[in-house]
Amino acid sequence: MTRGFLDVTEAWNGESVVTAFDSATGAWIFVALHDTRLGPAAGGTRMASYPAPVDGLIDAMRLAEGMTWKWAGVGVRFGGGKAVIAIPDDLGDEARAGLVDRYAAHLVSLRGAFQTGVDMGTTPEDMARIGAISGYAVGLVDGKPGDPGPYTARGVLAGIRAALEHRFGEADFGGRAVLVQGLGDVGFPLAGLLAEAGATLHLTDLREEAARRAQTRFGGTVIPADGMWEVDADVYAPCAVGATLNPDTIPRLRCGIVAGSANNQLLSDADAERLRARGILYAPDYVINAGGAVAFSAIHRGERDETRLRARVDEIGSSLREMFEEAAGAGESPLHAARRRARRFLDAHGGPPPGAG
Ligand code: PHE
Repeated sequence: MTRGFLDVTEAWNGESVVTAFDSATGAWIFVALHDTRLGPAAGGTRMASYPAPVDGLIDAMRLAEGMTWKWAGVGVRFGGGKAVIAIPDDLGDEARAGLVDRYAAHLVSLRGAFQTGVDMGTTPEDMARIGAISGYAVGLVDGKPGDPGPYTARGVLAGIRAALEHRFGEADFGGRAVLVQGLGDVGFPLAGLLAEAGATLHLTDLREEAARRAQTRFGGTVIPADGMWEVDADVYAPCAVGATLNPDTIPRLRCGIVAGSANNQLLSDADAERLRARGILYAPDYVINAGGAVAFSAIHRGERDETRLRARVDEIGSSLREMFEEAAGAGESPLHAARRRARRFLDAHGGPPPGAG
């Protein structure tokens, strides 16, 4: 299920989208700046091929809004933004390298209005290159690329623990089954952490070999992509594309908790209420998946101590615990508690909206 451009523009309350066309490759570049009251926008750069360029634009807009909530939710003074590079599906390695360089030059022309990090389809090496050309990559250490994925995975693990405790009364993974959808940069290390914690793994990925690789390393069962809705699990961890929670899928879920790293897991906010009505505990995506952003923004500010970085990421667990309790007390979805917390930070620390007075 997807949403069309009209639905998305109607709901959009962001600031701008800067669009560039890369004629050498036919790629479209969308840099969406959603809310810069807290500071210059920062967010990942996603590179993917879409059915049409407009779908990349929609993705950029929705993801940028997610970053606004994410930064405010964890109390980091960056604005919400995201870049999507919509590429033709037959883009070769050489053409891709040229495109990355020109994208970096494009960021130079934006003069720091947007700073970026890894997202689906881009790599730490891309960020090193973008940083070297533009100076606008977040979290490089001496120009060297780091991978936010393991930090994000660590935050998701802390979040799942909090959810288990809230939903089942104990944070223990022993005998708990977790369905991990997407074994990429975050899903793979998450599967490793879950296995170590004693969870039973069900692994699914559109590229079945990715699920098999994880199975070889961490055990568990591989589920074909079209069979995942038939799996009984305590936790469903979406770690791939967004919008997997929608009016079609929610009635089919066979889990007590949804807690994973994907951005924009809900097709729309109303789906949070649908989950609640089914008694499924939902860990708001931009809270539970903030580990990479938390760690990289701290590195950006000069933090180098691994123990402190990890401790900051682990705080995601305690934040979620509070939100679950607040939401349960108010008889609402944790999404609302998360949003209130982020809004409080925005109101307290954000300047006036751009263009105001
Ligand atoms: N792509 C990351 C996310 O969606 C954001 C990120 C920003 C990661 C900056 C690293 C550095 O949360």
